[in-house]
Amino acid sequence: MTQKERIARFERLGLGLFVHFGVFSVPESGEWYQAASKESAAEYARHLEHFFPKKDWAEDIAAFAAHNGFRYAVLTTRHHDGFSLYDTHGLSDFDATHLREPRDLVREFVEACRAHGLVPFFYHTLIDWREEPRFDRFSDYLAYLRSGVRLLCTEYGEIGGFWFDGQWKYRDRDWELDALYGMLRQHQPDAMIVNNSGLNDLGAKTHPELDAVTFERADMTGFDCEKAAGRWSAEMCQSLNSHWGYARNDISYRSVGELLDSLCLCRARHGNFLLNIGPEPDGSIREIDHALIGLLGQWVRTNAEALYDALPFPGSVQEGAFALRRGNTLYVFFSNVPMEIDPNAGRFAANRAVFRFPMDVRSAVWLDNGEEAALQRDAEGVSLRPAPFRYGTSLLTRVARCELQESAE
Ligand code: GLC
Repeated sequence: MTQKERIARFERLGLGLFVHFGVFSVPESGEWYQAASKESAAEYARHLEHFFPKKDWAEDIAAFAAHNGFRYAVLTTRHHDGFSLYDTHGLSDFDATHLREPRDLVREFVEACRAHGLVPFFYHTLIDWREEPRFDRFSDYLAYLRSGVRLLCTEYGEIGGFWFDGQWKYRDRDWELDALYGMLRQHQPDAMIVNNSGLNDLGAKTHPELDAVTFERADMTGFDCEKAAGRWSAEMCQSLNSHWGYARNDISYRSVGELLDSLCLCRARHGNFLLNIGPEPDGSIREIDHALIGLLGQWVRTNAEALYDALPFPGSVQEGAFALRRGNTLYVFFSNVPMEIDPNAGRFAANRAVFRFPMDVRSAVWLDNGEEAALQRDAEGVSLRPAPFRYGTSLLTRVARCELQESAE
């Protein structure tokens, strides 16, 4: 598979579920709990005694993700606390084989993903709070790190990609990335390589070997997908609230509308949206996460044909609208359009947005109800406005499937 094919395959996945799960889930205060609480490594290690993922945690998450239109899932196989959800084959005594009942949570995840048609991806930390005291012998640490990643490359079959994180903390160190990425290419030649460039360097391509740049908690409006086309992609990761790992008292939830806007912004730039859940200590999906993603999923299922395989149509981003193209079909998205209620007509009107087609169009249909979308023709050409919604409905973002004239180019 060429790099171009690898990237095209990734972009067709479109929507990914990020899963932050590990020992940090036990204190229920987010994945940075250890750093925030200043617990020593020994104190922190005691949380392992209370880490009991339920038998079907991975199965439940994979079924939930697939049902809601996610096509890949990224699991924290090791986060900054240094705990490995995989069997490290003795490299570390802080891994899933040291649970009260030895497990390999990464294997459970991979098998569940495959059973539900999701592509498994692995998040792996680069910084490691347990190992930091020996960072003066950095090369030794990097050898340890690579040994863990090598197991992930060789023990679990074909993996969709590797998602590294934490380099931003020691930007100036030599991370021997040629060796790390070289090993990945050797064992998993078709895997995507991603390395989170962090909050202060959004969208930066920090190494030639990277297949996608990251926009952590930030929209990718600045991503030039035409320049990057076929050479690198982009992914925005976002959490439902302000933590990635489970934080019981965090109620700062995003709305379904905001999540949908993020998804659409990513697709308008041909990037992927990676949406995070932090399961509870036993691996259950929190009720509100279930509900929010369930509503998002309803929209995703309805509009699926426009979401994965269509490419941005160059120059089509307009006020409140953009278009993606697949063959002779153009999908026009009206996103984040302010709705005004017309109580007399019992309708929501959204008269401000309009999409002007740069070519002729034969017919148009709304994906959410199958009704014809009324094309307007005037001296300036063909245009489309978001049709009013029936009162009692608010769809936030509507997509019209428009068939182009055969000759349209
Ligand atoms: C940041 C955080 C980390 C989280 C990641 C997800 O890098 O340090 O906790 O896993 O973002 O993008």
